[in-house]
Amino acid sequence: MRRKLAAGNWKMNGTASALTELGNLAYSCKSAKAEVLICPPATLLYRAANVCVDSKVSIGAQDCHNATYGAHTGDLSAEMLHDAGATAVILGHSERRADHDETDETVRAKAKTAIAAGLTAIICVGETLNDREAGKTLDVVRAQLAGSLPDDTSGTTVVVAYEPVWAIGTGKVPTVEQIAEVHNDLRASLVKRFGGETANAIRLLYGGSVKAGNAKEIFAVAHVDGALVGGASLKAADFAPIVAALDASA
Ligand code: PGA
Repeated sequence: MRRKLAAGNWKMNGTASALTELGNLAYSCKSAKAEVLICPPATLLYRAANVCVDSKVSIGAQDCHNATYGAHTGDLSAEMLHDAGATAVILGHSERRADHDETDETVRAKAKTAIAAGLTAIICVGETLNDREAGKTLDVVRAQLAGSLPDDTSGTTVVVAYEPVWAIGTGKVPTVEQIAEVHNDLRASLVKRFGGETANAIRLLYGGSVKAGNAKEIFAVAHVDGALVGGASLKAADFAPIVAALDASA
């Protein structure tokens, strides 16, 4: 059985005062069955991990460098993130693919380093609106999946997040049929490459404008094992109901 996962991506939001929200979330999720993960900015990792000690909430990072150490001013290695208290790292988010020209190859190299440092790599894939309108969604997502996942992918080392770029931060959500089509296809691609046993252990998240109000119907879709949530993860009062909806779907 794949354990459900509710992951929150705070992006470039939050200073020390946001740790109160994290404490509130840890309290609200004290009986959660699903895994709950919050990925704050790197500046908060260490303090966030301390706030969540002995709670159901674990802490992740939003990116890492593909090198293990060296002359890379301003960058952070996977080992440093792990040392600060992270258990996972988001890689290949569409905002990084767009803002930092990250390719599938870069994402795969980062994933390898992250896994070697003991982090779970949450690897994001997803089509743009142009891709979807041109009928290329499955081709684009298949290519990103093939290029971004390292060979040492397993149910413990990798989580895949399907995030249509046009749904991120826009309030627009694909239909449940559209989500189902991509998630089925992702599972089939994973089975082809890694074999049934490994593929069926890998969790597939949906991300893009997930809110308390639409979580239930999204979590009812086959092969949706949880969500990667941006805006609605910033406040405990918004994120806790999403965790509850995921628990109810289990
Ligand atoms: P959103 O972001 O929930 O604010 O749409 C999702 C994401 O970027 O992971």
